[in-house]
Amino acid sequence: MAYLEIRNITKRFDKQTVLDGVHADIEKGEMVCVLGPSGCGKTTLLRIVAGLETADCGSVYINGRDCTALPPAKRNFGIVFQSYALFPNMTVAENILFGLRRKRGLGREEMRARVDEVLRTVDLSEHRNKYPRQLSGGQQQRAALARAIAPAPSYLLLDEPLSALDAKVRLRLRGEIRAVQRALGITTVMVTHDQEEALTMADKIIVMNRAAVEQIGRPREIYDRPATPFVASFIGAMNFYPAQGGMCAIRPERVEIAGTREGCDMVAEIKGFEFKGAMTRIYGVLPKQTEICVDIASDRADGIDISRSAKLYLRMPEEHLIKYPPAASRVM
Ligand SMILES: Nc1ncnc2c1ncn2[C@@H]1O[C@H](COP(=O)(O)OP(=O)(O)O)[C@@H](O)[C@H]1O
Ligand SMILES: [Mg+2]
Repeated sequence: MAYLEIRNITKRFDKQTVLDGVHADIEKGEMVCVLGPSGCGKTTLLRIVAGLETADCGSVYINGRDCTALPPAKRNFGIVFQSYALFPNMTVAENILFGLRRKRGLGREEMRARVDEVLRTVDLSEHRNKYPRQLSGGQQQRAALARAIAPAPSYLLLDEPLSALDAKVRLRLRGEIRAVQRALGITTVMVTHDQEEALTMADKIIVMNRAAVEQIGRPREIYDRPATPFVASFIGAMNFYPAQGGMCAIRPERVEIAGTREGCDMVAEIKGFEFKGAMTRIYGVLPKQTEICVDIASDRADGIDISRSAKLYLRMPEEHLIKYPPAASRVM
């Protein structure tokens, strides 16, 4: 039995189906990312797990108990939103205390000790008496996280907690959130539209598209064996080309460059290249105008003639080819 069981959740707003039979299991202590493009239903799913929204049908089990009809106040979760929903007229410590008051049976001293503890956890002890406006965006999100974990919730829900932050802070906070999550061993569901964020942070990724789950798996599985063309193209870079009885996909770093036509699988004409630091991406076209790109170590690119219209002899190793049937190809 999984800790959070999402069973066949369907939700409509007016005539629009926002969630269509969503099914997922989240194990205790797991960090799960719900990943998908904007508007695919991620936030609605998270709100249903929180009890902030009701599903039209389906159920949510928490720790084996059917919680579908349970109000949010009885579900014992912590939540962090994209925009830091801190109270602007309260200091960081007061914000955290506010969340703790909901928890019955805690004395004044215990509350104070708990505030100190979570402030240390998110490394904000020095800023305890500051107001949100006196903090950076990253610090505000750490304060929001501290407030969410202070009552020792049984699970944590994060809705794009990093997307309002600038790139550098976002990268650092990925690691920090993950470290806190691991240290507490708290079951966490994080919504994101950023594939790199999901790949780097999650134990397991739930990929959604248009109200439905496309694939659930570990980051490496999702990357190496995308179940559908949508997953293949949404996560990382991917080449697609028609093949007998369907379509083939291969990652740019998996395509090999052969020295000669002999033994190569395809010949591409070079259209351009992009220096990306450690890697260089070569763009080309296959017969029938199918575009292809190949990533190689930049050191190696120096030895290749990358002038326009030069020929590139390519090998597509069988073990890295992903094949999709014609039906799957059409729904991309
Ligand atoms: N309260 C609501 N009323 C009507 N439509 C809504 C409501 N909430 C969300 N939607 C619609 O449901 C779809 C999914 O929204 P959402 O779950 O927020 O997606 P995501 O978080 O993946 O961007 C969108 O088309 C959105 O406009
Ligand atoms: Mg959303």
